[in-house]
Amino acid sequence: MNTLDIITKKRNGEELSFDEIAFLVNGYTEGSIPDYQMSAFLMAVYFRGMNHDETVALTQIMRDSGDVIDLGPIDGIKVDKHSTGGVGDKTTLIVAPIAAACGVPIAKMSGRGLGFTGGTVDKLESIPGYRTSLDKDEFMRQVNETGIAVIGQTGHITPADKKIYALRDVTATVENLSLITSSIMSKKLAAGSDAIVLDVKCGSGAFMKNEKDAGELASLMVEIGKANGKRTVAVITDMNQPLGNAVGNSLEVIEAIETLKGNGPDDITKLSIKLAAVMIYAGGKAGSIEEGEVKAAEAIKNGAALAKLRDLIGAQGGCVNVIDDYSVMPSTSNHYNVYASSDGYIKSMDAMRIGVASQHTGAGRATKEDTIDLGAGIYLNKKTGDFVKKGDIIAQVHTDKDNYSDIIAEIEDAICITNDRNDSPELIKRIYT
Ligand code: URA
Repeated sequence: MNTLDIITKKRNGEELSFDEIAFLVNGYTEGSIPDYQMSAFLMAVYFRGMNHDETVALTQIMRDSGDVIDLGPIDGIKVDKHSTGGVGDKTTLIVAPIAAACGVPIAKMSGRGLGFTGGTVDKLESIPGYRTSLDKDEFMRQVNETGIAVIGQTGHITPADKKIYALRDVTATVENLSLITSSIMSKKLAAGSDAIVLDVKCGSGAFMKNEKDAGELASLMVEIGKANGKRTVAVITDMNQPLGNAVGNSLEVIEAIETLKGNGPDDITKLSIKLAAVMIYAGGKAGSIEEGEVKAAEAIKNGAALAKLRDLIGAQGGCVNVIDDYSVMPSTSNHYNVYASSDGYIKSMDAMRIGVASQHTGAGRATKEDTIDLGAGIYLNKKTGDFVKKGDIIAQVHTDKDNYSDIIAEIEDAICITNDRNDSPELIKRIYT
């Protein structure tokens, strides 16, 4: 087999066989195929696409490029949840304890944030003492004993995706349905759960800017999950404005705890109940998503979900006092207000631009090697649809960086105020089962 022939075939729009895709992906992962040839291949895929069989093949080849976790020693139907990435998205910290409190075993591996999107592992690491790395036996034992464990991805899962995703990031080849699907689904399949719940984000702060593209991604991921024998459900949700009010690691943990206490912002509470309901249903602990919603809401109301978060934090060495005393969380020394420039209704809050501004506070990374400030971020006092008067505080910037005035300007630019009354965007758009 020859690399040039495979690239040429894809460039001409022909279908590739499993063996041809495996030759390319495995050769690139091992280092025998150079970046420039893989870049050309990815660009050919970007323009020509891949059909269903090719996408299934690419997903399986990437899944098998590293360890595939066997969660067999854990009792019950294990359910994983994945978000395609957003701003202020702390739902894992909320839905995982809710689902676990309803009897669904959660054996979850999460990622770190990069660019304008956050990552669950960074958020958890803002809890003093929390260990995001457990060995395999500890991980399995903890899920069997407490019903929940959330750790960072091990170094041995899907090395092919790790290398290819880094190349896609710098060759303008991220936004392709087959490449996104195979990247996400290979990791989810390697992580070993029996069922997968996907939160496919749609809007200015997401890869998929409109509902049609998000729908195509959702249905393709559901198809690929099912083709691999996993119960898979995708929920398309809005990412035109940040989720909730807090953006930034420790700020988001505090908001997640407040949500589990029943005091969360409406959007985060509503989305968390829906996603948890789908997990409870996929895990066989409810006969329908509607029944799952009742159980999820009850787990918040009776404190079972908050108790499960406490168990999780304690089991992984974190400071459980955080549940009652937020002063143990990292915070910045400086806070700056962002004021409304006129009277009116907030028409839009561009999620991506606020995510970028949050990154500039120190809360996010530009490159994998950057260190972050776990206490930094942005707190939004107002959201889309709210009425404001000139001089009202719209947001607070938490940063110890010197460039705070640039960050304030970025947030002002991301927010549009008009005279016309308008509604906030519809949060939950569609469910693909
Ligand atoms: N997230 C991933 O893990 N991969 C993609 O390709 C896009 C989002």
